[in-house]
Amino acid sequence: MDAPLAANAIWPDANWKRRLRRRLLGWFAHAARDLPWRRTRDGYAVWVSEIMLQQTQVVTVVPYYERFLQRFPDVSSLAAAREEEVLKYWEGLGYYRRARQMLRAAQQIVALHDGVFPQDMAAVLALPGVGRYTAGAILSIALDQRQPILEANTIRLFSRLLYFTDDPHSTRGQQTLWAFAEDLLPRKATGQFNQALMELGATLCLPVAPKCSQCPVAPLCPTNQHGRQSEIPLPKRKQQYEEIHEASILLRKGPHVLLRKCPEGERWAGLWGFPRFRVPGPGQDAEKISLALHEAIGVRAQVREVVTKVRHQVTRYRIRLTCYEADWVSGEAQGNTEFSWTTTNQLVDFPLHVSARKIAQAVCRREAKHRS
Ligand code: ADE
Repeated sequence: MDAPLAANAIWPDANWKRRLRRRLLGWFAHAARDLPWRRTRDGYAVWVSEIMLQQTQVVTVVPYYERFLQRFPDVSSLAAAREEEVLKYWEGLGYYRRARQMLRAAQQIVALHDGVFPQDMAAVLALPGVGRYTAGAILSIALDQRQPILEANTIRLFSRLLYFTDDPHSTRGQQTLWAFAEDLLPRKATGQFNQALMELGATLCLPVAPKCSQCPVAPLCPTNQHGRQSEIPLPKRKQQYEEIHEASILLRKGPHVLLRKCPEGERWAGLWGFPRFRVPGPGQDAEKISLALHEAIGVRAQVREVVTKVRHQVTRYRIRLTCYEADWVSGEAQGNTEFSWTTTNQLVDFPLHVSARKIAQAVCRREAKHRS
């Protein structure tokens, strides 16, 4: 790297980079957490881990990764699976689009690469759900290709190592940090190096109260030397949230309740839930809920009582969801999707989205209480 891209960074020289690599790798040799995807160099397995880790914490990912690889040990077994089953193995991890994209990517690998995970940057980048970070992580970790990475942990770490006082998420900031990631890479063992960077960011170079006294590269870190860890990196702009209210209906017909599959283009496409719609506020009366249900799916019902209330967040919405229990009166459920009448015992077999799973759990608890 000839010259820094940004004036508001201190670009290190070759000697600094050598010392940083030596210190970082020495530390990682004993401090690395024993994670299951660190025991393999299989491109497919590393891909699965990186997709799961995109928006989810390491501790949450571990059991999902193990179950997923047991059921889908290679590209072909995943490519042959039904979407519903893949989603079932993803249930609870969130961001379900990742699972649907992985299934499509596996099918693409079978069609274009004989089922062998590709080793070429352009082919990996062409897979649905894989961006520059993920492709670089897979190819460096599985094959030691000389590819840089930049994700949340390394954005923070690099900002501090560069004493970068601008917004690291701006176009200019991203260019600077990607260039730094590339400049820092050793010639060999790039997978180990990239993982060490992420590990340092995840375990010591924390957003709040970083553990600089334990950090192997603190003597090389200008942010530490200036005591500006709480100012660098600059905080992300705060998300503005909008509060909305929705109602969900546990519609009963004899021993069955009605499930609806979320169609393509809707939140949680491919997953199942209870019929649901927007309402103007909390505590709607039974008559209004009954009319809204008829409008949504063409069924008439007698609305009885509130089963449970769930709060959750989707993108910029804070959703307050009230679930009402209702008895079916007349009409077939209609809409641009599938419906299924099922017993409450069978709810475990459906891939439900998170708020529907919470409702299902509340219903099962109530039923168990009534029985005892
Ligand atoms: N976060 C993203 N990728 C990771 C990896 N390979 N190890 C630990 N944390 C990660």
